[in-house]
Amino acid sequence: MRETARLVELRSLVQGWRQRHERVALVPTMGHLHEGHRALIREARQRADRVVVSIFVNPMQFDDPKDLEHYPRTLATDRDILVRDNVDLLFSPTVESIYPQGPGLSTRVHVTGLDGILEGKYRPGHFEGVATIVCKLFNLVQPDDAVFGEKDYQQLLILRRMVADLDIPVRIHAAPIVREADGLAMSSRNGRLPENDRRRAVAPYKALLRAEDLLKQGKSINAIERAGTDALEHAGLKVDYFAIRRADDLGNAQVNDTAVVILVAAWLGNVRLIDCLPVYLNANR
Ligand code: PAF
Repeated sequence: MRETARLVELRSLVQGWRQRHERVALVPTMGHLHEGHRALIREARQRADRVVVSIFVNPMQFDDPKDLEHYPRTLATDRDILVRDNVDLLFSPTVESIYPQGPGLSTRVHVTGLDGILEGKYRPGHFEGVATIVCKLFNLVQPDDAVFGEKDYQQLLILRRMVADLDIPVRIHAAPIVREADGLAMSSRNGRLPENDRRRAVAPYKALLRAEDLLKQGKSINAIERAGTDALEHAGLKVDYFAIRRADDLGNAQVNDTAVVILVAAWLGNVRLIDCLPVYLNANR
């Protein structure tokens, strides 16, 4: 595996592949890699001849300085995983090289509408930071394909909208959520869950499954959202949202919608868990 933190070297390596007509896929990450990331890399490998993984803890997308400070940085173990997974290039730039003027002074990408709801409401500025760094990574790497996890469902829709609106020639692919044996969605932040709270961390997934059942039984959207919130509060979590939305644009779901997604964000102590479940419904239910 090649590895660089330098923008110029990254460009020249990728250019060499492109001159040989090799297809390039990018998997953007913030490191602390787990099975979820490995699934993204496998998906990228299926799409392209060359796989680039970026590891960059992007200060612009953190709305809470403490979260940024405590975000796990594990480059040495990440590198081992990437070598084992036959990644071609690890790009791990410094904050100074990505934001020479500082993150506060950069041009920003703002995906209007989609970035102010759900996660965007609770994490102001977060999606602007995500869209900006991903746009920069696309410009630096110029990949043919990029892979993102479905766990960050709203992020995925925002990035799809960004490439469509800005005519960025990158195909975005989604990889399904990878879960622990009990159903907890894998996340780099799960390591922060205290041992005694770990069992309760499965509550959001259980609430999603229950909501899916109720949707299929034809119960009302409001009643299902209320039941999901109540179940989580009962399990001792503090709920930011438990929402059923249209799968393609996160607009409010209606009874006759056939493709919806159930999204949840809730705090277990000081760890914020997010999860989601796309659901396809029969039009004649
Ligand atoms: O999903 C993530 O890990 C990050 O939001 C991303 C896409 C790598 C941008 O920093």
